[in-house]
Amino acid sequence: MALRRRIRWVVRHGLIRRTVQRQMRAGDLGSRLMIDPAIREDPFPYYDELRAKGDVVTGGVALMSAHHDVCLTVLRSPDFGQMRLDLMPGVLRLGMKLGGRAVLGPIERPSMLVTDPPEHTRYRKLVTRAFSARAVAAMRPRVGEIAEELLDEIASSGPTVDLVQRYASLLPATVIAEMLGAPVAMRRQFLEWGAGAALSLDVGLSYRDFRRSEEDLGALHRWMLGHFPEVRRARRDDVLSTLVTAHDQGEQLSLDELSSISMLLLAAGFETTVNLLGNGAVLLMRHPDQLELLRAQPQRWSGAVEEILRYDSPVQRTGRIALRDTVVAGRPVRAGSSIVLLLGGANRDPEVFPDPHRFDVQRPEADQNVAFSSGIHYCIGAALARLEGEVGLQTLFRRFPDLALTGTPHRRPTRVLRGYDAIPVRLSSHTPTGTSVHSSTQR
Ligand code: HEM
Repeated sequence: MALRRRIRWVVRHGLIRRTVQRQMRAGDLGSRLMIDPAIREDPFPYYDELRAKGDVVTGGVALMSAHHDVCLTVLRSPDFGQMRLDLMPGVLRLGMKLGGRAVLGPIERPSMLVTDPPEHTRYRKLVTRAFSARAVAAMRPRVGEIAEELLDEIASSGPTVDLVQRYASLLPATVIAEMLGAPVAMRRQFLEWGAGAALSLDVGLSYRDFRRSEEDLGALHRWMLGHFPEVRRARRDDVLSTLVTAHDQGEQLSLDELSSISMLLLAAGFETTVNLLGNGAVLLMRHPDQLELLRAQPQRWSGAVEEILRYDSPVQRTGRIALRDTVVAGRPVRAGSSIVLLLGGANRDPEVFPDPHRFDVQRPEADQNVAFSSGIHYCIGAALARLEGEVGLQTLFRRFPDLALTGTPHRRPTRVLRGYDAIPVRLSSHTPTGTSVHSSTQR
């Protein structure tokens, strides 16, 4: 068991980690961007440097791009797909076999995130309706209520709190648990398991982090399997019930597929949105002029959320593999080549966003950001995340107009996901200013 886990780690992370560390020491910029902790806090100058080197740059173990148009082209191209075992070099394939079956996770097949059509199309069809713009718009009042309830609890406990622990993580965890039909009382446990799931997205993990992510994912998987009978008994009208019914009625959804989609929806539902809320709260506390503008013109909140997504993207990167020989930005790319798409860098591309390092909630082109990716894997939860960002931040700053940092917010250790794991704040005042946000702004 332990030996097989070791082998799994070597094949999935250890070999890449060693190669990238070596190249990083030799000064390779792409490798630094992959793993160097020193540039995690502020990767943006390095994205600029990489972008200046070319549309597509060879870096570390993959091609890389921080250009907005290249990212869009690759994400929308049928010549690229998600990482697949059968496209990996022979020695790695052998290692994968020896390492035994991996724990189900967001980047292990059959996860929707790493499958290509036709499976991918089948998975998405089952859940898109629940997350459609219309279905999500109907949830606005409930998201507002949850935000108010959480802020009531904070108000009675002040005067200083950790905004991530008490609000930014709990709001999306509560919303997604209710939507799916998972017990809200378990939301802190879900968050703990989710932290391990979030680690699994990164490349070149240490063995310790890899073990933690496998253990957390394993625990979440076991819980999910144990929860399905309860879903069947309750016969509710929620997302897990739809998925369990699809499995039971033989709609070609295996038990692994059912668990994988359920786990992905649950974890993706809060592991990313927590970063949108945290990054947004910190940006607005650090730019009081922008907050003032939003107070005066609340109809600008939806644009502000786009600017937060652009400026401090909760998902910094994704990747694709060439399914056949192809050409990107005039450069030949061989079948089997991997390309890392730096979404956080594309969102600072001056070709699309003039003066890209300025945070400006009135920026007219902010909605051109690729924070939710593009093409067939475009984020299913985008409408929900935007709603939670808008209602969550607007309610927060209405309830606590003088909200202020009392220390330096602490970045979480993940690289694909960018956010804070602690934001110490002083509440100052919790006098409501009257107007409700629940129906005041529409996208
Ligand atoms: C600010 C919050 C969020 C951000 C920045 C975000 C970002 C992303 C990105 C970049 C991808 C595509 C990755 C790729 O192309 O390889 C993605 C996919 C996905 N997201 Fe989100 N996400 C957020 C919130 C959510 C929420 C609330 C849900 C809840 C259901 C969700 C569910 C998913 C799912 C299921 C996929 C896989 C879609 C597919 O592969 O077809 N996300 N997300």
